[in-house]
Amino acid sequence: MTTPDDVAGTRAYAIAHLPGDGVGPEVTEVARDCVDAVAVSQGFVVEWRGYPLGARHFLATGEVLPDTVLDELRKADAILLGAVGSPEVPPGVLERGLLLRLRAELDLYVNLRPSKLRPGVAGAVGRHQPADLDFVIVRENTEGLYAGAGGTVHRGTAFETATEESLNTRAGVERCVRYAAGLAARRRGRLTLVHKTNVLTHAGDLWRRVAGEVAAEAGLPLDYAHVDAACLYLVDDPKRFDVIVTDNLFGDILSDLGAALTGGLGVAPSGNLNPDRTGPSVFEPVHGSAPDIAGTGRANPAGAVLSAALMLDHLGEAEAAADLDAAVSEVLGAGAPATTSGWEDALREALDAKAGAR
Ligand code: IPM
Ligand code: MN
Repeated sequence: MTTPDDVAGTRAYAIAHLPGDGVGPEVTEVARDCVDAVAVSQGFVVEWRGYPLGARHFLATGEVLPDTVLDELRKADAILLGAVGSPEVPPGVLERGLLLRLRAELDLYVNLRPSKLRPGVAGAVGRHQPADLDFVIVRENTEGLYAGAGGTVHRGTAFETATEESLNTRAGVERCVRYAAGLAARRRGRLTLVHKTNVLTHAGDLWRRVAGEVAAEAGLPLDYAHVDAACLYLVDDPKRFDVIVTDNLFGDILSDLGAALTGGLGVAPSGNLNPDRTGPSVFEPVHGSAPDIAGTGRANPAGAVLSAALMLDHLGEAEAAADLDAAVSEVLGAGAPATTSGWEDALREALDAKAGAR
């Protein structure tokens, strides 16, 4: 078998494809086709390797993420994930067993979630203009309330007690803020820490000190907003945000707000990054498997295509990434298609036009 490394002199990438459940396969198929199209026009080679993980696979086999599959995934250059989940699988099984396990095992300590209002998209608030809304959330992705610390005692009794502890390490906070500061320096130079330091005085204090140190070292001013106020500012005056750095749960919540402000979950991309590149990073649309619209042909693949653009950018294919990003903007600007296949046709046309113009 020819592997990407055999193709001498070409840029070649092995990309693991985890289509998942519901609309996941539908949207990632469009993303794959778009990546294949820009690969041809930009002169690189992609080898796709598919893995059937997710709810369907779990229900059929009892497997969530076998170690052998994880070992295979570690060898990929990047991972493109659709969405996983089904009402038939109990909460937490796939979230903890697959998504959070990948984030921990592959040390994907940054969850990059850009929110950009593109021309032609109204956004939930209506009065925002594209120039008002272009920010990136850098969400810490391996610690905080997602670390899995806590437990239940006296279950099923009147004394039942449940705890979830937020774990924040200096090293974990620092590497996340460092990534955010680097990103802010490449963008508009505006870094905002979002936390709740007035109440979470232990973790908040650590975040505030570390962010202050890192920002000073990077020569950047550091803004700060409490998470409740940040929700208000995001709706009222989003222009003030460029790069937001925040903990795992705040970032989870704020990024759904960011999606609503910029056209909904259908258009929101994410990159679970291992910035140190000790292994592959995972790219996935922020939306879930949407079982209610799966199979109807109405899934919006924009979030998946933009996630693929983040993936190409991470792989060093900046021009290909920019082409995908611009193609999505053009299709949205012309009035978003109502169907997945309409999206696919419009994206391919936009990408062909770019290839032809070169
Ligand atoms: C997300 C999702 C996940 C998260 C869930 C499914 C574990 O909501 O990627 O935003 O909370 O991180
Ligand atoms: Mn979420």
